[in-house]
Amino acid sequence: MSISVFGKYPGYRPRRLRQSPAMRRLVRETQLDAGKLVLPLFARSGQKLRQPISSMPGVFQMSPDEIVREAQQAYEAGVPAVLLFGIPDQKDEKASGAYAWNGIVQQTVRLLKKELPDLLVITDVCLCEYMSHGHCGIVHRGTEGRPIPARVLNDPSLRLLADSALSHAEAGADIVAPSDMMDGRVSAIRQILDQNDFGDVPILSYAAKFASAFYGPFREAAESAPQFGDRRSYQMDAANAEEALREVALDIEEGADMVMVKPALAYLDILYRVKSQFGYPTAAYAVSGEYSMVKAAAERGWVDERAVVMESILAMRRAGADIIITYAATDVARWLK
Ligand code: PBG
Repeated sequence: MSISVFGKYPGYRPRRLRQSPAMRRLVRETQLDAGKLVLPLFARSGQKLRQPISSMPGVFQMSPDEIVREAQQAYEAGVPAVLLFGIPDQKDEKASGAYAWNGIVQQTVRLLKKELPDLLVITDVCLCEYMSHGHCGIVHRGTEGRPIPARVLNDPSLRLLADSALSHAEAGADIVAPSDMMDGRVSAIRQILDQNDFGDVPILSYAAKFASAFYGPFREAAESAPQFGDRRSYQMDAANAEEALREVALDIEEGADMVMVKPALAYLDILYRVKSQFGYPTAAYAVSGEYSMVKAAAERGWVDERAVVMESILAMRRAGADIIITYAATDVARWLK
């Protein structure tokens, strides 16, 4: 497609097509559709529990029964999928809760699939919520007498991630979504799923996940802040776009069915390049910090919440996102009606 019309089409007058709502709608290039939305939810044990997350107004840690209620409201508004995170009762140094048969995510998936069989349940596969130290993999504490600092061990973590994904699939998850950023996790997960007759469960890989300050409020929501250090040894440097393409290529080679770029708004260039280069189903994750900033400004009357959220989601779609993961999914679906 050529965008250079000057000289060639001297009569071109863009305003001509902006005269009325119907005219603008007719020539609109990007559509918003509730069927593209995913609502993240935070599960923890209990009953009738709705614990507000102070940095994310309107978002709660919920017990499985409340998760079902929330998911049903989303589903009735037109949101086809939820993304589940778990906050376990106990954390340890091997993330036992992440792959426990009756872990909080596994329980919640079973209940959701029983009560709302047509709702797609995506599970976040990661260890940080389940590790006492809050890192996304197994931590080596360093070696006494030698100055080797504590570090996250890639390969030993893969087994735990694969076991987690398998336990989610066994509970009935429709899609598993690894967010840990260890190298090789997509193939480890693909392998264990295939070996256990879950060859049909797709992997939505957090392929280009950046080490981002925009995750701040999430760490309160999921109680997953690292107790020491940060995630820069496994999550991506915000400065790197070429590397993001390599990360995506690697995950696709390992068997990812869908890929994600995260965060969304500050990384639209990455989203655009990932979609253009690979053409895979691509998700954008509008993360906690993006949500909280809009909420905070809207509460003060500084921005129009609805208009800002819709414009942001439109931008993600325009940049190439097929799937939009957002804490505002239910609101957006209602606004679209
Ligand atoms: C777990 C995970 C995080 C998010 C999604 N999965 C936090 C992190 O990597 O620190 C962030 C989501 C959000 O901020 O909304 N690894």
